[in-house]
Amino acid sequence: MKSSPTQYGSVAVAIHWLSAIFILAMLGSGFRAASITESPAKEAVLMLHVPLGVVILLLTLLRLFWWWRVDQKPRPVAGDPAWQTLSAKVIHVLFYGVILGMAASGIGIIVLSGAGSILFGDSAIPLPDFSEVLPRIPHGLGARLMVALIVLHAGAALYHHFIKKDGLIWRMWFARRENGAGS
Ligand code: HEM
Ligand code: HEM
Repeated sequence: MKSSPTQYGSVAVAIHWLSAIFILAMLGSGFRAASITESPAKEAVLMLHVPLGVVILLLTLLRLFWWWRVDQKPRPVAGDPAWQTLSAKVIHVLFYGVILGMAASGIGIIVLSGAGSILFGDSAIPLPDFSEVLPRIPHGLGARLMVALIVLHAGAALYHHFIKKDGLIWRMWFARRENGAGS
């Protein structure tokens, strides 16, 4: 379950890929919701977006706890230039910050606009105008920063895989028991 010096453990791998899929779904549903003007259709998308956002928040808190108290990250990739090791680290930290910021601002939008009771209660009332609550601004900016981070991060992973061909992607996949690379 835990990581080894060269391989992420199965808990870290499971949280990474679950979070990645959910975050892509959040970006899709968020931009979709923002583009819809009719209330019932927007509500339908937000009824997925809001609970999934809370799940991502819980997964991220679990992930932080896991790294803080239980597991240790593998060593940086051997042979990478120092700037690449540093930028990978900076991007990973920024991911945590942006995810927590998106969750906080998302909850802020719902609480301050009073949309919670409409989404999960009286759907006959139309949704409020979210642009009138302040956290909507950082939520929109954070979403764009998140897209930029994903492009850089996935781009770096694909560069390692297809150009450097150093098998880096397998560090973030479930290790087979018999190769002893992780447990
Ligand atoms: C929404 C998307 C994503 C987020 C938020 C994310 C976040 C992270 C974070 C924070 C780490 C550091 C390990 C940790 O703290 O658990 C990491 C590692 C990694 N990610 Fe992602 N990731 C995402 C998508 C992807 C995608 C699409 C790919 C592949 C194309 C990918 C490939 C990797 C790899 C290979 C590592 C391990 C790097 C190493 O060996 O040190 N990630 N990711
Ligand atoms: C990782 C977490 C999240 C991501 C990636 C995300 C992504 C997005 C995106 C891309 C947008 C559209 C932004 C724009 O077009 O300017 C959006 C809007 C929104 N999000 Fe999130 N979000 C997250 C978490 C949350 C949470 C936890 C909540 C509520 C508890 C939430 C509630 C909303 C609301 C109410 C809108 C406004 C929709 C509108 O303007 O019509 N989000 N989100």
